[in-house]
Amino acid sequence: MDKIQAPRGTFDVLPDDGRARLGLLRICEETLERAGYGPFDTPIFEATELFERGVGETTDVVEKEMFTFDDQGGRSITLRPEGTAPVCRAYVEHGMHKQPQPVKLWYWGPFFRYEAPQAGRYRQFTQVGLEAIGSDDPSLDAESILLLTDVLRRAHTRGVRVRLSSLGTAETRRTYSDELREHLLAHQNDLSDDVRNRLDRNPLRAFDSDHPGTQAVLTDAPRLIDRLAPEDAEHFADVRALLDEANLEYEVDGTLVRGLDYYTRTVFEFESTELGAQSALGGGGRYDGLVEMLGGPPTPAVGWAAGVERILLASELGPEERSRSIFVAYDARGLFRDGFSLVQALRARGVPANIEQAGRSLKGQLKHADRLGADTVVIFLDEGLEIRDMKTGEQRPAASAEEALKLLT
Ligand code: HAM
Repeated sequence: MDKIQAPRGTFDVLPDDGRARLGLLRICEETLERAGYGPFDTPIFEATELFERGVGETTDVVEKEMFTFDDQGGRSITLRPEGTAPVCRAYVEHGMHKQPQPVKLWYWGPFFRYEAPQAGRYRQFTQVGLEAIGSDDPSLDAESILLLTDVLRRAHTRGVRVRLSSLGTAETRRTYSDELREHLLAHQNDLSDDVRNRLDRNPLRAFDSDHPGTQAVLTDAPRLIDRLAPEDAEHFADVRALLDEANLEYEVDGTLVRGLDYYTRTVFEFESTELGAQSALGGGGRYDGLVEMLGGPPTPAVGWAAGVERILLASELGPEERSRSIFVAYDARGLFRDGFSLVQALRARGVPANIEQAGRSLKGQLKHADRLGADTVVIFLDEGLEIRDMKTGEQRPAASAEEALKLLT
């Protein structure tokens, strides 16, 4: 029969990768929990309208990349392409504005975007992210940036660079968009078709273009960061002061625009020089209008998400070192039950233990134990037990399974 393959842009996680992922999950959990972020989860699918309204109808994500379908009841459903709109939906739905603010949440799970697959870009990928909702204090912006820095440092991520900017308020952005549109219109023949087509709706996206003509036009374009209202400029200065205090290296980049429409004030992106074309490890920023846009009270918030697969591609995070592992071998099938009981007893005491389960000869079992990385093998023989040190090859007898258990735990 024909083989069935996984859909394009998806991947299976095999055990070595699985261990590295679990290692990263533990780093995230420790780092974020200790900063007071609580674990949070939302459904994999949501009403399509959530993303249309929350992420923005002119964004690539909503225009081209969503997996959207009607369910059997005729409702339009979308596999979540990102986590911020869902978290804010849940914040409103559960009346979390009545809790002490800010509400700090973190999440880890699968997300879906219909993009052209390539190294580091998938149609199903995993994000880890955090959101701090209910305060506009600049220290939350700084804290969130420092937490992503900390996660990446602890994962030994190579070649990390941080870019930072501020987009001001939605109003500042609207005025600036008009100014930028005029500048682009004056040079419209040099622009890419894509940028020209979006001029009316979203001129800021021109900064995302790698088209040489567009880039040349942008070199002397006005910068949003020079147009910030005084209170937004002050907020940005406060964020920077805290990051400077923490000795974080970053670059202020006035051309930084994010692919989602909800951002206000601080935005940031973490890249790795190790990643090639898909260099973004993670990104985020403030989204002070989103909760209100989703039917909640006016509520400032900040957060980020990072790509788990991309962090792992750029990190030296091998499978976790195992302190020890025992393999139980036996010379004759009649000895299996005693061996099996010993394995249960070892595991119950927290010692990783395995037993032969594929009918190998004793010689084959020792080879298999070596392949599994066992440091000790307990051999059940008709005449008694032997405990073998796999590093030195030395063997010593044990009078019974109980004695072996005592010796090994
Ligand atoms: P985003 O920049 O769209 O932000 O995605 C965050 C990260 O997810 C990216 O930097 C990248 O590492 C990873 N990622 C995105 N798409 C793919 C893909 N197709 N394949 C592999 N990895 C991918 C957000 O999603 C916002 N919700 C972040 C945020 C949280 N802003 C505020 N709070």
